[in-house]
Amino acid sequence: MVKVLFVCLGNICRSPMAEAVFRQKVKEAGLEDKISIDSAGIGRWHIGKPPHEGTRRILTENKIDYAGIRARQINAEDLEEFDYIIAMDEENVRDLKQLAPEKHHFKIVRLLELLPGSDTLNVPDPYFTGNFEHVYKLINESCDHLLSYIRQREQL
Ligand code: 4NP
Repeated sequence: MVKVLFVCLGNICRSPMAEAVFRQKVKEAGLEDKISIDSAGIGRWHIGKPPHEGTRRILTENKIDYAGIRARQINAEDLEEFDYIIAMDEENVRDLKQLAPEKHHFKIVRLLELLPGSDTLNVPDPYFTGNFEHVYKLINESCDHLLSYIRQREQL
């Protein structure tokens, strides 16, 4: 099983959106028994909460299931266990690299590094910007590239 973890600051806006979007793409590709997906936050403020209303709304509009997703905080085992740790912005990368022993740093990548020609490498935080639509577009497009990237690397 290839294990993919999406990480953002609060685990209520961007990373649960990416988790739900990517899960749907993996399912459509018939790879749900090969790729497992989860998300976590750097902070502990929202532990146990469902995704933010803005994330829920955009997922519902796009017919993407998010049932059962609840916020949790990243822990040391995650950094051992997951093969791909997909961060939303450079602050997440910095925090993750502080938590993870150096031997795991190669697993940590920003989602938008996988989006060819992207003019930004940070997924803007809609908790502060309110622009969930823009974030959804970025996440949806880059998750296609993430899936191709993983399929190629893992020969799936
Ligand atoms: P997220 O957005 O990292 O995309 O889930 C945030 C949600 C909550 C907070 C910050 C960012 N917060 O400070 O509570």
